[in-house]
Amino acid sequence: MGTKERAGPLMRRHLHLNLFIHSRGHHEASWRHPDASALSVFDIGYYQGLAHRAEAGLFDSIFLADQLALGDDIVSGPRTGLEPITVLAALAASTSRIGLIATASTTYSEPFNLARQFASIDHISQGRVGWNIVTSWLATAAKNYGAGGALSHADRYERGEEFMTVVQALWDSWAVDAVLDDRSAGHYARAGAIRAIDHHGKYYQVAGPLNVPRCPQGRPVLVQAGSSETGRDFAARHAEAIFTAQMEKATARDFYRDLKARVVAAGRAPLQALILPGLSPLIAGTETEARRMSDDLGALTDPEVGRNRLSARFGGHDFSHLPLDRPLTPQDFPDPATVEAARSRTEVIVGLVRRETPTLRQLLAMLAGARGHHTFAGTPEQVADLMQDWFNDGAADGFNIMPPVLPSMLEVFISEVVPILQRRGLFRSDYQGETLRAHYGLQEPVSQFD
Ligand SMILES: Cc1cc2nc3c(=O)[nH]c(=O)nc-3n(C[C@H](O)[C@H](O)[C@H](O)COP(=O)(O)O)c2cc1C
Repeated sequence: MGTKERAGPLMRRHLHLNLFIHSRGHHEASWRHPDASALSVFDIGYYQGLAHRAEAGLFDSIFLADQLALGDDIVSGPRTGLEPITVLAALAASTSRIGLIATASTTYSEPFNLARQFASIDHISQGRVGWNIVTSWLATAAKNYGAGGALSHADRYERGEEFMTVVQALWDSWAVDAVLDDRSAGHYARAGAIRAIDHHGKYYQVAGPLNVPRCPQGRPVLVQAGSSETGRDFAARHAEAIFTAQMEKATARDFYRDLKARVVAAGRAPLQALILPGLSPLIAGTETEARRMSDDLGALTDPEVGRNRLSARFGGHDFSHLPLDRPLTPQDFPDPATVEAARSRTEVIVGLVRRETPTLRQLLAMLAGARGHHTFAGTPEQVADLMQDWFNDGAADGFNIMPPVLPSMLEVFISEVVPILQRRGLFRSDYQGETLRAHYGLQEPVSQFD
């Protein structure tokens, strides 16, 4: 098969919008809010309802995160849900245009299983799947996979790199025209068009080929969200969309500039790696109303729950001695460089403490909104202004939309903010393509087959 390098559809630069589905909303207390969905987070109808709304709103994609252990804060909120790849299979059959992105771990999956599952969903959805590549930072996950302790940050990324080599080879193990399905001649597949990969590495021994034909997009759209030094280099090499948590525009711009430079250094075009910072917009008719809703949500949170979650972010560090109402200093936290868990998010948090010296109570309230992503409470015009500003000022190629309460805040976003973005020529008024790759304007991947 000849290698292909085809540009995505030519169009003016548009914002890309991904809906991040999490609990009954991203605010820690969303699940208790009267506007939150009445459905269980274990009801597939909940996910289907959100995906249909996002598709009607012309979003590029929806996204499901995943952790491989139950948090010990389950008593105080539904911070778990259905297994994401399984959910994508159901959504693939009940949607037709929107991209479908699920998280799966390079540390605790076998590359053959993962390559096969994502290829299958790409076939089921006819080219709409994306994979959020994670190395699984949660210390408790290791205990569910027979590993004594969590792997170090460096080990996880080293293993992840080899994992990528294996899955890419598996996705390329069938030529694009390998399947003949010629019933009269009795030839199902073309001889020589499917081949072994014979991978012998430090972590994986995989013969191949994959037992699923090349998928409609060539391979899933690759998404990544690690923001540490190692994570950024990994993203620059592999990721076609990059999620990131940034609390303010200045740091988002620094991240954008740095990541795009790494993408170019890796020999790739800047727009082949879209940067989508998180945005959690709380939208109301007036600023006063938006602030009131924000206060209502805040009143439903418990600082002790937030303290435990902060501890998990810092790999189990003990914050129990910190008073709630004294201003914090960076010395109250471990050095992020020593954190083996979600390192970049700890940098975001310590950076915020350095700049704003909040009390622990105030810090926890800020993190309750969207766990270190940018939160904003205002009118539809103000939300659109913010998005336009970040987009035009080198901070974002689009956004990972994280509604504080679901589905109500998604509905307001779609009915009030999307039309403003469309009027300003910043967002599509119809889907132009059929695949997630087309929505994101990404090239077809070059096959290693020949
Ligand atoms: C929007 C977003 C979503 C993420 N989703 C997951 C997830 O579902 N599972 C997970 O283990 N990590 C998730 N992460 C964490 C990253 O994949 C990464 O492990 C973390 O940022 C630490 O990597 P780093 O040390 O390179 O920054 C997410 C991060 C962001 C910004």
